[in-house]
Amino acid sequence: MALPLSLEWTGSSLRLLDQRQLPHRVSFLELTRWQEVADAIVSMAVRGAPAIGVAAAWGVVLAAREGAVLSEALAGLRAARPTAVNLGWALDRMAEALGVPSSCAVDQLVALASCIEADDRRLTQALVDHGVGLLPTGCRALHHCHTGAIATAGVGTALGVIAAAHSRGVLRHAWLDETRPRLQGAALSAWELGQLNVPCTVIVDGASGLLMRRGEVDVVLVGCDRVAANGDVANKIGTYNLALAARAHGVPFYVCAPGSSIDRSTADGDAITIEERSEQEITAIGGVPIAAADVRAWNPAFDITPAHLISGIITEFGVLRAPYRAALAALPLMDQR
Ligand code: MRU
Repeated sequence: MALPLSLEWTGSSLRLLDQRQLPHRVSFLELTRWQEVADAIVSMAVRGAPAIGVAAAWGVVLAAREGAVLSEALAGLRAARPTAVNLGWALDRMAEALGVPSSCAVDQLVALASCIEADDRRLTQALVDHGVGLLPTGCRALHHCHTGAIATAGVGTALGVIAAAHSRGVLRHAWLDETRPRLQGAALSAWELGQLNVPCTVIVDGASGLLMRRGEVDVVLVGCDRVAANGDVANKIGTYNLALAARAHGVPFYVCAPGSSIDRSTADGDAITIEERSEQEITAIGGVPIAAADVRAWNPAFDITPAHLISGIITEFGVLRAPYRAALAALPLMDQR
């Protein structure tokens, strides 16, 4: 079965897959104002670093169409979520175009947003092809969070590698971390692989060590929200623990990163802002409290995996190997501001 598009420009609005309704309902939001796009990013109706970036680009188009103050829209969209650098990457590209005369600005912005979206499709496909080439036949892959087609405008990153490996007869099985607290693995990745008939099993995040100890995992594949200049990687909370377990068990740990996720202006992982979200995301599930009312919780949405735990960074240019600083510096990328 074909997957729904994560987002689509209708000519006058941004049609956005509402990821919060999955896996129960495939429904779409019809957004006509930039503030609605920012809200959709904050509330996680759209999530996954590449999808967030492309959605923000369309948010700038909506701002221009509604005659909003563009600097305010750019700042508001940029502030929606702090960790995924794809957001700033897409907004920097849109901001560059804002120097054009206002009479043609909207058309130019539409063309640029279309180009950013098309780039994402092209980059993710190239990344996936490089990723599949790494995998041994019959491999069992472990995945964290959600990195599939709906997390991008294209075929996804790590989950795209898994899906393509299955269709090319390389993958035997996918293990999916459920990914507390927002359960992207159980709700989104498992749904996406189900639509594609890829054999998969959801595990609680804490089960990955046991699974590796039993020799049931041949490779770990994750996405990322930002790669720093030294190769440290920000990704969904729990990724670092997974990398440590993979190292302890001799399992290769690969990060999938399109160029839009690479931020050479950030020196290392310690310089990456980690988004902290509400305590209720931990103390309640689906709005139902699971802890006593006075229990406090700490909810960092992302963590940092140090470069030395990463076996390779899979990009559209190929697979980067340590030392990452040099490998990343050599890439033909537009740098972040
Ligand atoms: O908080 P989310 O759901 O937006 O976090 C998503 C992740 O951390 C993904 O793993 C990452 O963005 C990679 S998307 C290809």
